[in-house]
Amino acid sequence: MAPRTAGTDPLERVERLAAENAVVIFSISSCCMCHAVKRLFCGMGVNPTVYELDEDPRGKEMEKALVRLLGSSQAVPAVFIGGKLIGPMDRVMASHINGSLVPLLKEAGALWL
Ligand SMILES: *[C@@H]1O[C@H](CO)[C@@H](O)[C@H](O)[C@H]1NC(C)=O
Repeated sequence: MAPRTAGTDPLERVERLAAENAVVIFSISSCCMCHAVKRLFCGMGVNPTVYELDEDPRGKEMEKALVRLLGSSQAVPAVFIGGKLIGPMDRVMASHINGSLVPLLKEAGALWL
């Protein structure tokens, strides 16, 4: 196991960013699904915080942390609402369709209507 140093652990960075913003999308600028999920939120009137991992020198480590969190091979897009991991695009869409997404957004203070 790699030693963990407070404040420099990529998982902690991910969790801190997620906790500090109502809606956070971890993204890579060339990823189409990331653009789609941004458009979905913008279309709902939500202004998500988008964190481009390819623009962060430590983004690769954060990607690995997200892959572990998501339990999938793809790190992005990874959506957090109110500090809670919702998941990739398909989970966001499923929550939108079953009506659980809007209440989550309201609870997080990301949506007022
Ligand atoms: C809606 O779908 C999401 C994502 O699959 C799931 O986590 C959630 O439990 C579902 N909620 C309801 C009310 O069915």
